[in-house]
Amino acid sequence: MRTPFLLFTRSCKAIYRLQRSPFFSPVSALCRQQTISVLRNTSTVSCEDDRSYYITTPIFYVNASPHLGHLYSAVIADCLHRYKLLQGFNSKFATGTDEHGLKIQQAAEAAGKDPLIFCTNVSERFKHLFNSCDISYTDYIRTTEQRHHQAVKHFWSVLWNKGFIYKGSYEGWYSTQDESFLTALQVGDAVDSSGNEIKVSLDSGHKVEWMKEENYMFRLSAFRSQVLEWLKGNPRAIQPELFYQTVLQWLQEDLPDLSVSRQRSRLQWGIPVPGDADQTIYVWLDALVNYLTVAGYPDKHNQWWNVAHHIVGKDILKFHALYWPAFLLGAGLPLPQTIYVHSHWTVGGKKMSKSLGNVVDPLERSKKFTTDGMRYFLLRQGVPDSDCDYTDDKVFKLLNSELADSLGGLLNRCTAPALNPAQVYTAFCPQSFPSEQGCRAVVEDYHMLDAVKKLPAVVENHYESMHVYKALEAISACVRQTNGLVEWTVPFEGRALGSDTGVLFTRLENLSMDKQNLYKTKKAKK
Ligand code: MSP
Repeated sequence: MRTPFLLFTRSCKAIYRLQRSPFFSPVSALCRQQTISVLRNTSTVSCEDDRSYYITTPIFYVNASPHLGHLYSAVIADCLHRYKLLQGFNSKFATGTDEHGLKIQQAAEAAGKDPLIFCTNVSERFKHLFNSCDISYTDYIRTTEQRHHQAVKHFWSVLWNKGFIYKGSYEGWYSTQDESFLTALQVGDAVDSSGNEIKVSLDSGHKVEWMKEENYMFRLSAFRSQVLEWLKGNPRAIQPELFYQTVLQWLQEDLPDLSVSRQRSRLQWGIPVPGDADQTIYVWLDALVNYLTVAGYPDKHNQWWNVAHHIVGKDILKFHALYWPAFLLGAGLPLPQTIYVHSHWTVGGKKMSKSLGNVVDPLERSKKFTTDGMRYFLLRQGVPDSDCDYTDDKVFKLLNSELADSLGGLLNRCTAPALNPAQVYTAFCPQSFPSEQGCRAVVEDYHMLDAVKKLPAVVENHYESMHVYKALEAISACVRQTNGLVEWTVPFEGRALGSDTGVLFTRLENLSMDKQNLYKTKKAKK
């Protein structure tokens, strides 16, 4: 069941008001497909100019199918990539899957599958989701690829040769779910579903285990002051500001050296340490290097590696804002330009996760609400600084009010053939908007014009700081103001009186005095 809300006469897109049943528009899918191939083709061109831009999503763990939170990271990156293309940048956009580590090894075991087959299967699901949702990535990386193995081994050897990796031993807490080492202060007590007392990460709530192993350590402690210096000199390196402050806070404490390998006997599913087949490289070191692999490391990364921007969820800030800069400094490579951090989608107040059984299927929802609808919702309602709770009802209400009613209504009013038979961008009537005083326009109309004029700069500013929701809010406010103008100037009444041209907003004086007074009273009440 679908109700056409309006049809754009010069475009193949249609806007429909959402019904409470699923629908899908094959016409807009076709248009999107064309747009995507153009975006992909444009951005693979290699160029040496300073208008290169490189944006990445985190690479996604393949232990489970994608959920809405994953799509959110990808939609933000896609949005910034498209924005840069519109600005004329040569933009590279990487996404992909993180396939090594204990967590994946255990997931494959539990599924009774060969790890590579298991990874390929889930990786394809992510790819399918991103293709279906118009994520216009230019490179899809899998950490099981040969090019990545080479990059990681090279990167390791550089750190080793410079003396930043040493053989040692690690004793402490480890969370397999987060693939993260934790200090005693980061761990608390909890009880599992069977009533057993367990230790958990205070941050993620995931179970932790005590481990004691001989392995390789990275001299993280040696980089604390350099990372701090970098951040002090680049206050916009981590955005939004809230997360920048969080990292500065972390850096007030000492950084312990980091274990960067696991014994092969425990972890087989990973890249072996060069020169030591008994050890496997720590999955986070392996995963972070994906950004370099896509950039062409170790031979051809210079064009892209100076202009890298990472999108990350707040749960993985530590890895990107502490470990990654330290690794890069150790390897003598430039640091990322920006780390854009976003918060989480929750369901019933809890972070979406497979273990909690509260995941929202993004593919199913984008069929229900359309791809553009879902993308709009995520960007419009997702606030980077704080978590947002997801409900279908919120999507339904937002899309109907802002896209179908407000934007759709405005377009309908401006482009309906009966109102705008010439199908042109109409000029303002000189009696309505003269520069001198005494015209029919009222002060709100000038505010609207002013807001529309300033809109590109406002939007640009918000995009630059990853506040996409604020950009959309500003656009939506202009749409509302413009709708207000249309309501006040009643071009539809003018048409009823026989308006002949495509020039709108000219006819109030042609109405009977009664009607004019009615509209003026309505306006005054507002
Ligand atoms: N594999 C690591 C990233 C390595 S990057 C070198 C990882 N993978 S993940 O699949 O767990 O998460 C990928 C991204 O999805 C992260 O940015 C994470 O914050 C994001 N999200 C996961 N759950 C989320 C929500 N519920 N809401 C929003 N984003 C969430 O971490």
